[in-house]
Amino acid sequence: MKTLSLLLLLTISLPSIQCDDDLIDQICKKTPFYDLCISTLKSNSNTQNSDTQGLAGVMANILLSNATDTLSYIRAQINEASDPRMERALAYCAELYIPVVKYNLPQAIDALSKGQFEFASDGISDAAKQADACEKNFSGPMKLEALSERNKLLHSLSDVAVAIVKLLLKGLINFRP
Ligand SMILES: *[C@@H]1O[C@H](CO)[C@@H](O)[C@H](O)[C@H]1NC(C)=O
Ligand SMILES: *[C@@H]1O[C@H](CO)[C@@H](O)[C@H](O)[C@H]1NC(C)=O
Repeated sequence: MKTLSLLLLLTISLPSIQCDDDLIDQICKKTPFYDLCISTLKSNSNTQNSDTQGLAGVMANILLSNATDTLSYIRAQINEASDPRMERALAYCAELYIPVVKYNLPQAIDALSKGQFEFASDGISDAAKQADACEKNFSGPMKLEALSERNKLLHSLSDVAVAIVKLLLKGLINFRP
């Protein structure tokens, strides 16, 4: 019985794999960071049989998991910081990331699943804004390369997710190439 349903599942999902790749390709071409979009979506198994709305959700969830990871990173750095200015700048970044991780992104993901694309787009773009604000607070000799890279990646992932949601706003909900 198990084998049978597995076979059935394979038969159903196999022919569409090519199609999904095409959809991912078409969608990523409409985002500002094609390579990042492709590598992010193709490394995620939840993209199989997804339409545009599903792919936007996958991207938003990866953004959330990146933001969550960055917040943990910031907290760990706060514990290690010996320079009080560095500690303050990190604490400021944590304050920026907490609402993104706790409210903005989870609410945006929820809105996305309900078809409230405008609200979703706002919440997702907040992540980029806060990453920028965090980045700006580090200047001059105070620099934390690993955090800068994370802020930059978060900004790019947010831009990609917003671009996909914009396709949904244009009515391309079940857009297939
Ligand atoms: C963050 O995003 C990158 C780019 O897609 C991905 O490779 C990485 O696994 C993500 N990290 C987390 C913790 O989700
Ligand atoms: C950066 O953080 C410091 C505290 O470390 C704060 O006093 C300052 O106003 C912040 N700068 C910006 C541009 O937010």
